[in-house]
Amino acid sequence: MDTRVLTVNPEHPDAAALADAARILRDGGLVAFPTETVYGLGANALDASALARIYEAKRRPANDPIIAHIAHRAQLDELARDIPRAARQLAEAFWPGALTLVLKRAPCVPDNIAAGRDTVAVRMPAHPLARALLLAADVPVGAPSANTFTRPSATTAAHVLEDLDGRIDLVLDGGPTPIGVESTVLDLTGDTPVVLRPGGVTLEALQAVLPETTLAPRYLAEDGATDAPGQLLKHYSPLARVLLFTGAPAAVRARMRSELDALVADGAAAGLLLAEEDLVMLDGLDAAVAHEVLGCEQDLSAVSRRLFDALRALDRRGVDAILVRDFGRSGLGAALWDRLLRAAEGRIIAVDDP
Ligand code: TXA
Ligand code: MG
Repeated sequence: MDTRVLTVNPEHPDAAALADAARILRDGGLVAFPTETVYGLGANALDASALARIYEAKRRPANDPIIAHIAHRAQLDELARDIPRAARQLAEAFWPGALTLVLKRAPCVPDNIAAGRDTVAVRMPAHPLARALLLAADVPVGAPSANTFTRPSATTAAHVLEDLDGRIDLVLDGGPTPIGVESTVLDLTGDTPVVLRPGGVTLEALQAVLPETTLAPRYLAEDGATDAPGQLLKHYSPLARVLLFTGAPAAVRARMRSELDALVADGAAAGLLLAEEDLVMLDGLDAAVAHEVLGCEQDLSAVSRRLFDALRALDRRGVDAILVRDFGRSGLGAALWDRLLRAAEGRIIAVDDP
C-alpha cells in the first residue's frame, strides 16, 4: 500500500486534511498522527478489524493492549464502566494531557483493544492536531505509539515513515512532538492507584492529587511476558547495544570515557548520548565520536523531547554500541530511566563514587 503524508499546521489544521483522515479512520484504515507525547498509530477503537490492522502493521504481539484516545469526557463513560471517583479527579486535574487511565472495560469495546483483558486504557490527548482529528473522526481512536514493535517511539513524521511506510494509509505530519516520551499509564482497577509506566505526567504530580499512588513498573524478559502487557524489558531498542551508566555524574563521565576508549581501541563504532554537561568527556579524543546532545541535565523536558530522535539518529550512523547515563529518578527522570533501562535491556553499569 502507498502511505500518504499530509503536512498540517497543528494550530490551524486544514479542514480537508482532517476530513480525509477522519474518513479513513471511520472506514477502518490506519492514520498516524502527533500527540503531545509521541506519534500514535490510530484506528477506530470500536472496530475490531481496524484494531487488528494496527497489531499487524506494528508487528505487535496480540497480548499488548492499546490505549483508546478520546476528545471529550462523555466518551469516557462509553468506554469504561464502574468508573471510580479517583478517575474523575485525575481527569479534572490532568486531561487533556499525558495521563492514561486503566479502568474496567465497557461491553461495547472490542476485546482486542484490551488484548482480551476486562480493562481499557483511556487518554484524552492535549495536542491540537490530535484533538481536531478525534473530533472530526467522531469515534474514539485506539492508538499505540507509531513505531515498529520494540523500536524507539516516533516523535516525528520521518520516524513514523522509517518504521511504517507502506504499512499504513496516512501520516498527518504536525511537526515534532513536544513532550517526547509517552504518557503515564495509571491502573485504577485495584485498591490503590499504580503507575504501570512512568511518563509525561510525573509521579509527584499524581501524588499531589492522590497521595496513595505508587510506581510499580515491571521489567520482564522476553518469555515471561504473556500476562504483563507492555512490560517487556526489551522495548524502545535501537539496533545498537545500549550501555546505561548510573551514579554521580562526575564519576559516571570518567567511567563512560574509559569504556569509550576501550571500545574504540577494539575497533568498535561507539556512539554517545550526552547531556551538555557531559561534553567535557570528549576532550582530548583523537578522532570524532558519534554523539547526540540531549540538552542540559537540569532541563529534563529538553532531554525527554530529544531522547527517541537521538537514539534513532545514532542507529542511522550504524554504531555498534551507545553509551548513555541516567538523569535521576525524580520528575521526568523516572520516565527517562524506564525508557533507558528498556533500551539497554537491563545492561546497567553502576559506578561508585571514587
Ligand atoms: O503517550 C502515549 O501513551 C502514546 C500516544 C500515542 O498516546 N501511546 C502509547 O501507546 O505509548 P503504546 O501502545 O505504545 O503503549 C501503551 C501502554 C503499553 O505499555 C500497554 O501495555 C499499556 O499502555 N496498556 C494499554 N492498555 C492497557 C490495559 N488495558 N491494561 C494495562 N496496560 C495497558
Ligand atoms: Mg509503544
